[in-house]
Amino acid sequence: MADTAVLAFSGGLDTSVAVRYLQEAGMDVVTVTVDVGQGGDFAAVAAKARRLGARRHYNIDARREFVSGYVIPAIKANALYQKKYSLATALARPLIAEKMLKVASRVGAGALAHGCSGKGNDQVRFDVALRAGSDLPIVAPIRDGNLDREEELEFAKKHGIHVEKVAKKYSIDENLWGRAIEGGDIEDAYKEPPDSAFEWVRPSGQERPVYAEIEFRRGVPVRADSVRGALAIIEHLNAKAGRAGVGITDHIEDRTVGIKSREVYEAPAATCLIEAHADLEKMVHTSHQTRFKGVVDEQWAHLAYTGLWQDPLRRDLDAYIERCQQNVTGTVRLRLHRGSVRVAGRRSPSSLYDVGAATYGAGSTFEQGLAAGFAELWGMQSTEAVKLQKKGRAGT
Ligand code: ARG
Repeated sequence: MADTAVLAFSGGLDTSVAVRYLQEAGMDVVTVTVDVGQGGDFAAVAAKARRLGARRHYNIDARREFVSGYVIPAIKANALYQKKYSLATALARPLIAEKMLKVASRVGAGALAHGCSGKGNDQVRFDVALRAGSDLPIVAPIRDGNLDREEELEFAKKHGIHVEKVAKKYSIDENLWGRAIEGGDIEDAYKEPPDSAFEWVRPSGQERPVYAEIEFRRGVPVRADSVRGALAIIEHLNAKAGRAGVGITDHIEDRTVGIKSREVYEAPAATCLIEAHADLEKMVHTSHQTRFKGVVDEQWAHLAYTGLWQDPLRRDLDAYIERCQQNVTGTVRLRLHRGSVRVAGRRSPSSLYDVGAATYGAGSTFEQGLAAGFAELWGMQSTEAVKLQKKGRAGT
């Protein structure tokens, strides 16, 4: 009997080509589509899998799990890789891998397969997550065959595989946390992406500013405007901020495999929620907590990006992050206008912001006389070093 390969299947170009390649290598293919909020027509994806000859197709709705187990931890970690990328694709991979492993044990699979190329991060994320949970061999037809996109399109044409118009232009990956647009004419790093590349964000935004009020409880968004529940909040903000032109990121990204790539993203909800959450943290944490949290956040994003979600360090960091979210409770008001997002106001029952101390007006509780001595001691070593330098006695 032929070996069964369990393939993560989106119905896009790479994974459709992968089905045929696996079959040509003599394998039976079981396809798994995981709904992480990418939208689209799952019945059509299932029909495509069947048309391609998949022995069985699984469609698994994992949206809630994705939000609670991956997106909320990312919000708590203010997770932005290289200060820009909200990690939508990166966060979904370990969850998709977990679902593949479940199906693999159900069908008694002999191999695990994905449609990633050898140039990207996703292969690393899938491989690490699959290896952490199974000893089955991993087959990656696009990577193994060293195929480029043109060759894939050619192969698809030859095998009568339908390819969406947008897939001919760009490589797209999306889920409820964001949409990544790669390849095609935007590989020219100086060329502005055409407005037509965007589906979630209206690049020019609306004439008038709109406001979004976001309430957090222990670091978790519990309400946005009148909408409650994390999943609904994300959908609400994707729509609202997207209309206001908010959420486009265009940057040069360092991939795990060493390549620099030009990346374009649409992530309106992620942009709003991370901006609001980070601002609220600064109101309730001491300056020491805030500085240390920045280091923790950066490490967290790096692990998630580079496919090391399973590393014990991520759990260690999560434990710290969870502890310091205890008082991240409050409300943040965002002003969204023509592509910009700005915190317009924030309040918290755990606020350390003390108007009495900070005010430049009358009635301040702050004793200015204490500050003179503080300033002298605080700068003591620095001023001494400068003086020595002037005398030519120190190399600093
Ligand atoms: N650069 C992003 C990442 O590594 C997006 C990848 C998008 N994936 C794709 N198959 N188009 O997470």
